[in-house]
Amino acid sequence: MTNHHIITINNLSIHFKTIDGIVKVLKGVSLEVKEGEIVGLVGETGCGKSVTAKTLLGILAIPPARIISGRVDFMGQDLLALSKSERNIIKQKIGYIPQDPMTSLNPVFTIGEIMIDNIIWRSSNMSFYCYCYNRRISKIKKAAQTHAIELLHKVNIPEPETMLNKYPVELSGGMRQRVLIAMSLIGDPVLLIADEPTTALDVTIQKGILRLLSEKIEEQRLSGLYITHDLGVARSICTRTCVMYAGTVVEVAETSALLDEPLHPYTKGLVRSIPKLSGEEFDGIPGNVPDYFNPSNGCRFFPRCDRSTEACESESPRLIEVDKGRFVACNLFD
Ligand SMILES: Nc1ncnc2c1ncn2[C@@H]1O[C@H](COP(=O)(O)OP(=O)(O)O)[C@@H](O)[C@H]1O
Ligand SMILES: [Mg+2]
Repeated sequence: MTNHHIITINNLSIHFKTIDGIVKVLKGVSLEVKEGEIVGLVGETGCGKSVTAKTLLGILAIPPARIISGRVDFMGQDLLALSKSERNIIKQKIGYIPQDPMTSLNPVFTIGEIMIDNIIWRSSNMSFYCYCYNRRISKIKKAAQTHAIELLHKVNIPEPETMLNKYPVELSGGMRQRVLIAMSLIGDPVLLIADEPTTALDVTIQKGILRLLSEKIEEQRLSGLYITHDLGVARSICTRTCVMYAGTVVEVAETSALLDEPLHPYTKGLVRSIPKLSGEEFDGIPGNVPDYFNPSNGCRFFPRCDRSTEACESESPRLIEVDKGRFVACNLFD
């Protein structure tokens, strides 16, 4: 593994305009994915994980979103400064696996139609419709179909040729997620962003999908950003893990170190909240993720923290390196 950075997010802050006012969601988010690693992004629902992923993918609607600060370096360019067409070219190098396999495939098209359109679109730089005017369309379609079959084969789908004629509704959740993983590999990406890809699946299917994902990541020499609220999943797939709370990064470390010896009071709370199979009592973290209308100027975790001091109310903690590769943003450590 080298130390070459695939993607670097620096000081990203994002607000949304809503009917009730401005919500200040992300605040100074910084994180990077190095070559060959899978970085986990964990935190409770509503902490800003998907907003972060959508920003990287360029699918955040602006407005209502507004990028207040930050840059995202990917393949030598600042993604946030690119025009839409420049971004479309570079975006082909980022594969995306969405959260919900049940709603992420258009029900009125067959798997073949969806995949072939996607392959043609991704390998052109222009839209599929421009291609329809091209006389060579049948040849292009044939090549795309062959590629679709190869991709389905890669994700261990039996009889890929038959699969092309099926509608999403004919497939189980696990099979749909395999199709989505196959689609994320279109265009040979260098980075894979997966947003809770196994959350909607039951645990036995989840295990197979996780194994498949790690295999593909290794085989295709990908790097990954893996979003999950499940610490067990993070432990099984992520090299390093970054914990987010209320739109801020609170702790980053190698996954085993982070889970065995969490430093930030929020991470400690998350680890304590994992239900034990032995039936032992477990505690959670009292309270909820705050709304983002009037977030605290100090530490955003302050209202729920059992170790907070007066300073935490007004002083925003910096993310500092407390040990090699271990970062924590908490006034207890600064
Ligand atoms: N388009 C939007 N308009 C207003 N608020 C939004 C919008 N998208 C996301 N948010 C808010 O941003 C916060 C973080 O959301 P999200 O990134 O989806 O959380 P999660 O960590 O569960 O993926 C939530 O409070 C959500 O309501
Ligand atoms: Mg989400």
